[in-house]
Amino acid sequence: MIVLHNVCKTYPNGVLALDNVDLQIPERDFVFLVGPSGAGKSTFIRLLIREELPTSGRVFIDGQDLARLRRRDIPHLRRKVSVIFQDFKLLPHKTVFENVAFALEVSGYARAEVQQLVPETLDLVGLADKADRYPNLLSGGEQQRVAIARALVRRPSILVADEPTGNLDQDTAAQTVQLLVRINALGTTIVFATHNSELVNTMRRRVIALEGGHIVRDQADAGYE
Ligand SMILES: Nc1ncnc2c1ncn2[C@@H]1O[C@H](COP(=O)(O)OP(=O)(O)OP(=O)(O)O)[C@@H](O)[C@H]1O
Ligand SMILES: [Mg+2]
Repeated sequence: MIVLHNVCKTYPNGVLALDNVDLQIPERDFVFLVGPSGAGKSTFIRLLIREELPTSGRVFIDGQDLARLRRRDIPHLRRKVSVIFQDFKLLPHKTVFENVAFALEVSGYARAEVQQLVPETLDLVGLADKADRYPNLLSGGEQQRVAIARALVRRPSILVADEPTGNLDQDTAAQTVQLLVRINALGTTIVFATHNSELVNTMRRRVIALEGGHIVRDQADAGYE
């Protein structure tokens, strides 16, 4: 469960990016975060992954106040909350398998776990047959699926996505969302920031709309506008 309680975020340059945001996202929810450029979507995402801390108010994940996490609890948060971005951030000199495995190796997973978890996850995203390819030989949609596999391989309970379909054409974007819907059905909470009104309109999920750092709408089974 994600809870934001009266969250304000002012950047050091004085920009107020989030203004008194209050919301709850229960486990297994699928939420679109929409709003014009500069509305505060990426700031919201950065607070969830603790890349930024609120200036005031609190962000809780499963009852943990992220501002009060001890240093030794941060790896645990990173396993629980995973993120994907518009650019896929793949390592060009590693294969698909190695890119996904790397997310485990940096966290000290044993070789046997890597050998089990990576193929399972590549299977889930439909890339089992491309495990030995290098990223530059994949389509944009396939590269994003590698990034999704890398985000999922540690079995997070929450996946946050900042404009993950921004570099994809409409069909590929729709396929990527379908994959995230399947992942959601398997039990992962999804928070999906996007400008893509067509996607949001076809999915009819919960929509949280931000404008100027305020929540202007929070509606179930909704469209973009
Ligand atoms: N690191 C930063 N330092 C200072 N100001 C920032 C920083 N990041 C974002 N901002 C400002 O905070 C506000 C919210 O930005 P944010 O990136 O959260 O918007 P967004 O909704 O993700 O926009 P976009 O759709 O363009 O990605 C904007 O006014 C932006 O200029
Ligand atoms: Mg953004």
